[in-house]
Amino acid sequence: MIAGKRILGAAVSAMLMGSVSAYADTIKVGIIGPFSGPFALQGKNFQAGVEAYMALNGKSVKGHDIEIIYRDLPAANPAQSRALAQELVVKEKVQYLGGVYFTPDAMAITPLLSQANTPLVIFNAATSAIVNTSPLVVRTSFTTAQTTNPLGKIAFNEGVKKAITVVSDYGPGVDAENAFRKAFEAAGGQVVEAVRMPMNTTDFSPIMQRVRDSGATGLFAFLPSGPPTLGFVKAFNETGLKKAGIKFYAPGDLTQESDLPALGEAAEGLKTSFHYSVAHDSPENKKFVEAAVKAIGSADQLSFPAVGAYDGMHVIYKMIEATDGKQDAKKAVDAVRGLSWTSPRGPVRIEPETRHITQNIYLREVAKDADGKYINKEIQTFPDQKDPGLATQ
Ligand code: PHB
Repeated sequence: MIAGKRILGAAVSAMLMGSVSAYADTIKVGIIGPFSGPFALQGKNFQAGVEAYMALNGKSVKGHDIEIIYRDLPAANPAQSRALAQELVVKEKVQYLGGVYFTPDAMAITPLLSQANTPLVIFNAATSAIVNTSPLVVRTSFTTAQTTNPLGKIAFNEGVKKAITVVSDYGPGVDAENAFRKAFEAAGGQVVEAVRMPMNTTDFSPIMQRVRDSGATGLFAFLPSGPPTLGFVKAFNETGLKKAGIKFYAPGDLTQESDLPALGEAAEGLKTSFHYSVAHDSPENKKFVEAAVKAIGSADQLSFPAVGAYDGMHVIYKMIEATDGKQDAKKAVDAVRGLSWTSPRGPVRIEPETRHITQNIYLREVAKDADGKYINKEIQTFPDQKDPGLATQ
C-alpha cells in the first residue's frame, strides 16, 4: 500500500517536472515518397536511409517512441501530394513530415505547414526556391544549382569552348541549366543551345541529334534520377556521341550507383559532380552503407536518396529532442538552424538563414573498384558549398 503510494507519487512528480520517462508517448513522422512505379527504387532508398538511422540511433528520442508512417506518391503529382500531406497531418496526427522526391510535390505541401504547425524535412526535392516558400522547411539533400556549380569551370578547363545544355523542363532542370551557363560563361565559354525537354520524355535520339547538330563539343545535362537518367546516358552512348568525342557533364543524378550495373562499360570515365558517392571513404559512410544495405537488401540498390533520408532523420531527431516531444514547429526548426555534423557524405551544416544544407561537392569519375564493381570515384573536393541558387546568404 505504502509502496504503491510512493510509486504513484513519483510518477505524478515526474509528470509535473515534465519528465518523459513517466509516460512514454509516440511521435509520428509521415514520409512521402515514390514507393511504387518507375521511381520505386528512389523511395526504397528513402526507407533504407530512415531504417539505417533508426537501427544505429534507436527508435526513441528522450523517451518518446518514434513511429514512421509511409505514404506512396509514385510520380510528380502536386494534387496527390497535397492530399497525402493533409491526410497525414489531420488523420494520422503526424508531428513531422519528411521525404518528397519531386519538386512539384514539395511545392504543393509547403503552403500547408504553418497552419498544420508541422515542419517538413526534404530528403530529395532539389529546386533552390523550395526553402523560400515556408519558414518550416529544412532540406538535407542538395540543390541542382549546388551540385552543378563546379561543372562550368571544369568543362571550360577541359577545353570545351562551346556547350549545349539539355535539361528536364521543370524547377531543378531550369536551376541546373542556369547554374551551368553562369559558371561556364564566367569561365569564358559559350552556351550555343539550351534544350528543355518535357519531364516524361523517353525517346532521346532526337535530342542527341540536336546535340550533334549544335556544333558544341560539350554537353551538360540534368534529368531526375531514375528511368529517365538511365535512358539518357544509354542514348548518349548508343547514338555515338561519346565516340564522336563530345564531352559529357552532369550532376551525379545521372550516374546513380544503382544504374551503374545496367550502364556497364558505357559509363566508364563519365565525370559527374555530386554531394554523395556510395564509395565515399570515411568511417561514417562505412557504418551508414552497412546499415543501409542491410535495410535495402542489396548493395547494388543503394543510391543517394538514402543519405538525404538518413541525414533528414538526424534533423528530425534533433527537433524532437529540442521540443521534448511537444508539437512546436517553429521551435523545432529554430533548433536545427546552424546544426552541423559529420554525415556519411562528409561535413555538413544546416545554414541558419536558408535552412538548406551546406556540404562538400565532389567531382567523381565512374571507375571500377578493386572487385571490378563500377563506382563513382571521388577525384576532387569542392569544400563547404552553400546553395548558390539562394540569393539570401
Ligand atoms: C526534383 O524533382 O527536385 C528532383 C528529382 C530527382 C533528382 C533531382 C531533383 O535526381
